[in-house]
Amino acid sequence: MCGIVGIVGTQPVAGRLVDALKRLEYRGYDSAGVATIVDGRLVRRRAEGKLFNLEKRLAEEPLAGTIGIAHTRWATHGAPTEANAHPHFVEGVAVVHNGIIENFSDLKDELTAGGATFTTQTDTEVVAQLVAKYRRDGLGRREAMHAMLRRVTGAYALAVIFQDDPSTIMAARSGPPLAIGHGRGEMFLGSDAIALAPFTNEITYLVDGDWAVIGRDGVFLFDIDGNRVERPRQISSAAAYLVDKGNHRHFMEKEIHEQPEAISHALSHYVDFLAHTVRPIAEEIDFAKVPSLAISACGTAYLAGLVGKYWFERYARLPVEIDVASEFRYREIPLNPASAALFISQSGETADTLASLRYCKENGLKIGAVVNTKESTIARESDAVFPILAGPEIGVASTKAFTCQLAVLAALAVGAGRARGTISEAEEKTLVRHLAEMPRIMASVLNTIQQSIEQLSRDLSKCKDVLYLGRGTSYPLAMEGALKLKEISYIHAEGYAAGELKHGPIALIDENMPVIVIAPHDRFFEKTVSNMQEVAARGGRIIFITDEKGAAASKLETMVTIVLPNVDEIIAPMIYSLPIQLLAYHTAVFMGTDVDQPRNLAKSVTVE
Ligand code: AGP
Repeated sequence: MCGIVGIVGTQPVAGRLVDALKRLEYRGYDSAGVATIVDGRLVRRRAEGKLFNLEKRLAEEPLAGTIGIAHTRWATHGAPTEANAHPHFVEGVAVVHNGIIENFSDLKDELTAGGATFTTQTDTEVVAQLVAKYRRDGLGRREAMHAMLRRVTGAYALAVIFQDDPSTIMAARSGPPLAIGHGRGEMFLGSDAIALAPFTNEITYLVDGDWAVIGRDGVFLFDIDGNRVERPRQISSAAAYLVDKGNHRHFMEKEIHEQPEAISHALSHYVDFLAHTVRPIAEEIDFAKVPSLAISACGTAYLAGLVGKYWFERYARLPVEIDVASEFRYREIPLNPASAALFISQSGETADTLASLRYCKENGLKIGAVVNTKESTIARESDAVFPILAGPEIGVASTKAFTCQLAVLAALAVGAGRARGTISEAEEKTLVRHLAEMPRIMASVLNTIQQSIEQLSRDLSKCKDVLYLGRGTSYPLAMEGALKLKEISYIHAEGYAAGELKHGPIALIDENMPVIVIAPHDRFFEKTVSNMQEVAARGGRIIFITDEKGAAASKLETMVTIVLPNVDEIIAPMIYSLPIQLLAYHTAVFMGTDVDQPRNLAKSVTVE
C-alpha cells in the first residue's frame, strides 16, 4: 500500500518528509519521492527501491522549501521505476496518490485528445493532467481541485501542491485513509497517525468524499459537493507506540515476542480475570437472537475467522458462513437480515473486506468489526467494534494481530455461548481460566522452543516445497503456517486438512517434501497419527508439532518433534501459532529475504 505525507510549515521540510515516510515503510513499497516549492518552482527528487536511495539522492542534491509532499509507491499501474515514482508533475501541479483511479483510461484518452502529453504509465498522472487542464481553462486552484474530484472515480488518497501557491496543500480521500495533523504554525498530512506521531498527536481523519485545503494556520474541509464540513480533532495514541525494533533484528521478531503482553492486553478488554467471566458483549449485536453469523476477511485474518467458525459453532451452536472477502460478496449468499456479520482486519482498510462489509450492511445484517485500528474505515462503518488492542503491527506478515484476533474471537464465542445458553456458567469459568493462562504459557513456549526451531529452520530453508497438515482448529493453523512461510521466505507451502492427504496431496510425498504436522493430543490425535504413518510409509520427512501427551503417545520416527505444553483446545490455536510463526521467521532469516517487507507484499491492500 502506498504512503503519503505532506508538510506546510516555516522550516525546511524535505528531511522531515522522508523521516515520516520511514514510519510508513511497513506498508510495503518499491519506489519513493519528495517534491517541494523553491523560489516559485516545483522541484523533486525520486528514487527506485528503498528510502535509503532517496536519502542518497537528497544528500547529493538537497531540496530546500518549507512546503512539500512525499510518497512511497507500491506499484499498481506501471513498473516500479523512477519515472513512475510520485510526485507527478504536470504544468506546475504536483500530485501523490494512494489507490487506483478506475476511470483513468477514459480520462487519459479524453485528455490526450485535448492535446495533453503523458509521460508515465501510471493512473495517477491523469489527476495532475486534469487539474492542470482546469487551471489552463482559467479555474482557480480550489475550483480545479474540486472539478478534478468530480471526474475521477475509484479509490484514492491524494495530496496536491501548486507551483504558484507555496502556502497550501490540497488533499482528498475516497477509500485509503488520510489524516491531517495540527501543528503550531505548521500543518501535516499523512496516510496514518503513526507517520505524523513525532510532529503532533492532534489528528483529524478525512472521511470518504472529503477534500481539504491545508494552510500553515489550519484547514478547510469540504464534502464532494463543495460544502464546508467539520470533522472531529482527536488525540491519537499512535505517538505512544512510536515504533522501533528494540533489541530485535526485525519488527516481525519483536512482534512475535510481544504476543504474551499483547494477548493479555486484548483479553483484559473482554474477560474479567477475577470472576472468570466474559464481559458483556456490545449490545448492537445480540448473539442470543441472531440465527446465524457471517464472517469475511482476507489472508491471515480470514484464517483467524476460520478458527472462529469452529468455536462459534461448537460453543455457541451458531451456524457460521465464512469466505474470503474477494469471493464472499460475489457468491450472492442468501443472507438473513436478522443475522450478524463479523469482519476481521488488522488494518481496518482492506478493500475486499470493506466491500464485503458494505454488501452485508446493504442486506440489513448487524455488522461487527474485529480490528486493530479503531479509527479505520471498517471500524467506522460497523455497528459494533471489537478492538484487538495488539498495538501497531509493522511487519507485513501478521503475527501478534493474528493471535489477538483469535483471543478476541474465542472470548466472543464463549460470550455468545453464554448468551445462547449453550454453555453453563461453570463451563464459562473453565474456558475463561484457560484463556487467562495463555500469556504465561505463550511466554514459556517462546523461551523453550527458540533453539530447536532455529536449527530446524536451517534445514527448511533448503527446501523447495513444504506441506502443513492439521485437523479441527489445527487445520486453519496449517494454512496459516503455510501462508507465513511462503510470504516471507518465498518457499512454496500448502496447508491441508490432514484427512485430505489421501485425496491427492499424498502423491507429493517423498524424502524432499517435509510435512509439518500440527497435532495437540486432542480428539483428532489418533486419526492424525494415521496420516503421519501414511507419510512415513512413503519416505516423507515429518516435523511433528505436538504436546507432551502427543510426544509420549506417538512412536513414529520423525525428522524433529517440537513439544509444547498440554493445553486446552480453546487456547491451542494461539499456542501452536508460536512455532509456526518462528519457523517461518527463522527460515526467512536464513534465506536472507526482506522479512519485514517481503517482495510484492503490502501491509494493507486497499485496492481490490
Ligand atoms: C498476513 O501475514 C498477510 N500480511 C495478509 O494476508 C493480511 O492478513 C491480509 O492482507 C489482511 O490484512 P488486514 O488484516 O489488514 O485486513
